[in-house]
Amino acid sequence: MALYMKAADILDKVEQKKGAVKTLVYDSKFQNIKQLFALVCETQKYSSVLQEIIDSTKLLKETKLKVNLAKVLVYDLLIGHGVKCGGSWKAMMMKHKPRLQAALARMKVKQKVSRNQDLLPSRFQQAEGNRLPRYVRVNTLKTTVEDVIDYLKREGFSYQGTARSLQDLSHLSGKAFVSDLHLQELLAFSTRMDFHDHFLYKAGHIILQDKASCLPAYLLNPPAGSHVIDACAAPGNKTSHLAAIMKNKGKLFAFDLDAKRLSTMSTLLLRAGVTCQQLANEDFLKVDPLGPEYKDVGHILLDPSCSGSGMVCLRNSSAEPQERDAGRLEALASFQLRCLNHALQFPSVQRVVYSTCSIHTEENEDVVSACLQQNPGFRLVNLLPEWPERGHAPLPQCLRASTAETLTHGFFVALLERRPSENEEENRPIPPTVEELASDEPSAGDADGERGSGKGEVENPGVKRKRKHKKKHKKE
Ligand SMILES: C[S@@+](CC[C@H](N)C(=O)[O-])C[C@H]1O[C@@H](n2cnc3c(N)ncnc32)[C@H](O)[C@@H]1O
Repeated sequence: MALYMKAADILDKVEQKKGAVKTLVYDSKFQNIKQLFALVCETQKYSSVLQEIIDSTKLLKETKLKVNLAKVLVYDLLIGHGVKCGGSWKAMMMKHKPRLQAALARMKVKQKVSRNQDLLPSRFQQAEGNRLPRYVRVNTLKTTVEDVIDYLKREGFSYQGTARSLQDLSHLSGKAFVSDLHLQELLAFSTRMDFHDHFLYKAGHIILQDKASCLPAYLLNPPAGSHVIDACAAPGNKTSHLAAIMKNKGKLFAFDLDAKRLSTMSTLLLRAGVTCQQLANEDFLKVDPLGPEYKDVGHILLDPSCSGSGMVCLRNSSAEPQERDAGRLEALASFQLRCLNHALQFPSVQRVVYSTCSIHTEENEDVVSACLQQNPGFRLVNLLPEWPERGHAPLPQCLRASTAETLTHGFFVALLERRPSENEEENRPIPPTVEELASDEPSAGDADGERGSGKGEVENPGVKRKRKHKKKHKKE
């Protein structure tokens, strides 16, 4: 019941222009934020269809339900996965089900279509969200990828191996699933798969997380035992991913300004078996970088509040004009830049990953460019060369993600790295040139075995200078 009341309340507030869907969902205190978000978005999308069904069956008069509550219930009853509550509401909806079903069927006959989605207004037809696979991250703190695959196979799911291309992810149907081609611990299922009621999810063995949102922790890649900050952490999916990468060893300081979200996060982390965290209900901008407890912090993940314009269902909703508000974007970008600059003040920090689920350059490349200008001691790491969608010029080292190019929500990631000191730079091994690789002559790079990690290759302006120097030596 709580799910439907919250969803209806959010739809009311959106209509009254009291906030964007994403913000209202996060602020709702509801335990299963993704489930609530999906229900609100889908109900919004089908709003005109639901309204017609409700009007033609006189449901409001018969039940005394308010319109948005009726919409979320009818959505789940007819289009979603069935009403997920018991008691009087369920009994009431079941009583009206035949009439509601008949109204839906009449609409389809009238419009000469067979599928529910064909009833959607044209701007929602083939909505981007309908093409997104459902991603599941295996929580390696509790299980292994192999065990999850075996468990699902025993339940009748059909494992198709590791995807070789994005196309393999886009053609999943029924109970077929694949391992992702970029992230080893990620499995991809068909769009319609829902694991919210599945044992593996409830037991914390799997985390329901979009692929793009897995990139920041994966790319930051803090070693076990390291000291890490998750600056704007709630509800904590990236925190639990960081903990899994760190094998729960080390210290993971997680801050969030919002106490409600932090308490949801605490429950999620408990379920995920995370033990290396220290949660604090604090403004990251007020955390003292010189505090003794942070002296060994070498890695920071910064995923600050953003417009959320990359979230697929928001782009199809009435929230769009609000999200594009120039004044709001400017305020967000200024906050994001202050957070990024603050992260670079931690004395031992080596790597800072910055991410948003925004598609706006103002919140992404512009923030990173301004930060690099103000912090010449840091530079960008060239991320995942094989990733198809790059940051907008002049920052191709960063990654972008989108439904069209990467089959994910819209996302942006940049990885900043402290430049080595002069001494470190001098001693840094030089990767071999193409000519050196082709020749038999062993090179310094070969000898040291230095290669890109595959996750990120550093753009090193010092290499050219040193290579010239080295060639000069060779000639001599
Ligand atoms: C995009 S969400 C973070 C999502 C999170 N990284 C995850 O993956 O689950 C941004 C968060 O930043 C928090 N926040 C906003 N301003 C903050 C500040 N000054 N200090 C700390 N947290 C802040 C918000 O409360 C919100 O929970």
